[in-house]
Amino acid sequence: MQQKLEQIRQEAKAALAAAEDSKAVDELRVRYLGKKGEITAILKQMGSLSAEERPKMGQLANEVRADIESAIAVALSEMNKKALELRLKKETLDISIPGKQETVGSLHPLNNTLNKLIDIFKSMGFDVVDGPEIETDYYNFEALNVPQDHPARDMQDTFYLTENMLLRTQTSATQIRTMEKRKPPIRMICPGRVYRSDDVDATHSPVFHQVEGLVVDKGITMCDLKGTLETMAKEIYGSDTKVKFRPSFFPFTEPSVEVDVSCSECGGKGCRVCKGSGWIEILGAGMVHPKVLQGCGIDPEEYSGFAFGIGLDRLTTTRHKISDIRLLFENDLRFLKQF
Ligand code: PHE
Repeated sequence: MQQKLEQIRQEAKAALAAAEDSKAVDELRVRYLGKKGEITAILKQMGSLSAEERPKMGQLANEVRADIESAIAVALSEMNKKALELRLKKETLDISIPGKQETVGSLHPLNNTLNKLIDIFKSMGFDVVDGPEIETDYYNFEALNVPQDHPARDMQDTFYLTENMLLRTQTSATQIRTMEKRKPPIRMICPGRVYRSDDVDATHSPVFHQVEGLVVDKGITMCDLKGTLETMAKEIYGSDTKVKFRPSFFPFTEPSVEVDVSCSECGGKGCRVCKGSGWIEILGAGMVHPKVLQGCGIDPEEYSGFAFGIGLDRLTTTRHKISDIRLLFENDLRFLKQF
């Protein structure tokens, strides 16, 4: 029996040392230590031993069992170690590889200027509204006092989608949408993209941006228009900027003006930026035409208002001395990173 136990010890240890995976180890544990295992089988034969030999064999059997148990523990921990090593090898990090530089984005110059405008107008009590870029003929022209066949339609080359649908040529369409929805007092601005079928060059793009403004209340006069726009221009270009109101024509305002600011590049002497004139045109404006108010259900006897449309691209290029409007739309990071 002693011989048999020693044999089991040797065999079990050798088999455990050669075991490939934890499943094999488990099978060996059952085979040697399990209820129907080899050690148990030996212990069952103890009855046939003499009283003297029995405790000796019992002790040896316990030793062998303990030996096999510790061999199992060793085999399993070796396996875990190997698995870990394998994983670490597979997942090596090469800490000598140079890091990738994280680039931090910045606001597009158009958004920069727009945010500034929004701050300025909010401080004067305006709120910001939004309107659709795909418009109906009615909102873009008809309700703005530009009936079908009116020559003023030639002022803007329009992208028509259908006979009645078009890409808005001016944010002025949102004047009508706002007046239809709200009762005066109204003080809103509406920034957005507008579209005209223009050829692309340094100062023209078929897509550009306007910031519409509309004020309607009792007793609004041309003085309010002038004060508001002068305040805006000086905030944008600096307090010593001169502002000029030139008579102009828009079908939906009467009287109408165009607003120039003294060139911030040359201070009014004349340079490349202002094309020698000393002035830069930045917006169109005027007192809302009584017919437009009436069409929106606002009584022109009781209320009056003014409206303006700022050329956001113009404002941005002149503020930052950008010589070509196309730079605003190309999204060249070398350009954008400068802002
Ligand atoms: N919508 C006009 C344009 O695009 C600008 C404008 C807006 C003029 C509001 C007067 C009042 O040219």
